[in-house]
Amino acid sequence: MSGEPGAERPKTVRKKIVGSDAAPEVEEERVVAVDATLEDEVYGATLRPRSFEDYVGQEQVVDNLRIAIDAAARRSEPLEHVLFSGPPGLGKTTLANLIARATGGTLRPTSGPTLEKPKDLVGILTALESGDVLFIDEIHRLGTVVEEYLYPAMEDFQIDFVVDRGAYAKTLKLPLKRFTLVGATTRAGMLSAPLRDRFGIVHHLAYYEPAELQRIVERSARVLEIAIEPGGAQTIAERSRGTPRIANRLLRRVRDFAEVRAGGVITAEVADEALRREGVDSLGLDRLDRAFLETIARQYGGGPVGINAIAATLTEDVETLEDVVEPFLLKMGLVQRTASGRKTTAAAHAHLRLAGGTSVQPRLL
Ligand SMILES: Nc1ncnc2c1ncn2[C@@H]1O[C@H](COP(=O)(O)OP(=O)(O)OP(=O)(O)O)[C@@H](O)[C@H]1O
Ligand SMILES: [Mg+2]
Repeated sequence: MSGEPGAERPKTVRKKIVGSDAAPEVEEERVVAVDATLEDEVYGATLRPRSFEDYVGQEQVVDNLRIAIDAAARRSEPLEHVLFSGPPGLGKTTLANLIARATGGTLRPTSGPTLEKPKDLVGILTALESGDVLFIDEIHRLGTVVEEYLYPAMEDFQIDFVVDRGAYAKTLKLPLKRFTLVGATTRAGMLSAPLRDRFGIVHHLAYYEPAELQRIVERSARVLEIAIEPGGAQTIAERSRGTPRIANRLLRRVRDFAEVRAGGVITAEVADEALRREGVDSLGLDRLDRAFLETIARQYGGGPVGINAIAATLTEDVETLEDVVEPFLLKMGLVQRTASGRKTTAAAHAHLRLAGGTSVQPRLL
């Protein structure tokens, strides 16, 4: 997909209660949202893999990292700087943690938006010990001025200060300990070339296959001591939109249902019933995804229709639809974006069981 919309992370879907001036904004959490909820963060500490052996999938990335870590250790050098890009919830922060564990360095986490001024970054850099892993999340949101302080720090392990002005200006160099920078971004395209070029190791994380997500669900179930059958794990995996974070969240929701209604064991049937109650269908689409497709398919005869018209029909804002609904539908081949507007595909019609449906199967992740 070209032209990534905006620098901001997708937002929580908000619905306004209409009819009252003092109407509060009610947040409706989507169970399939990609961003971490508070509950995800709480469970994250328990469920996050603690070693590369526990980290499922992304084999090529893990393999290359382990070789680089070994090689650096043999040379008694810090690991080269590493950049991870990829959609939310695929394991970038987890990998940063695993690198710190494997290299024996301390993880120093921060993020692009937090480093507002050069002094914020300089403070962190000068406090680093040799071998520390500085993790900058959302690194594409670093300001340009701050970013320029990072270049000599990454390249020569020093900070350059310019003191005085004009003819008397001179650069002071402040040496730093040798550290490893791990950057993570959901928007690799927004990184400036000079910054990207200073990473020795660059990896893009891809969406996970259902079989990999099934292994993640089974591992999480073991950690949380949840009884689950392979069919139950498979059902959850298939609806997790290629994303471990969503897989873990769906597992917790299904567990609640299984405990209260099904004697505690997650079978395929229990998972299916629980997820249907959550509004998550066989492809992992929720109500809002389906409403989006149905609006185009039913109200606008399959399109093409402009995003503003869809937004007005659904009483959602355009930004929400573009940032948090459409990307997955595009990825699944259920929607097409054309110059004249959005169209639903035959696969979408088949999924919605509408007239015009064909035997075309939606593209699996
Ligand atoms: N390969 C994996 N194997 C097992 N569990 C994983 C894997 N990748 C991610 N997870 C699980 O998914 C959760 C989310 O992963 P993580 O926080 O690392 O994603 P992220 O890419 O940093 O997301 P964001 O872009 O939102 O910061 C983790 O808490 C972890 O439990
Ligand atoms: Mg993260």
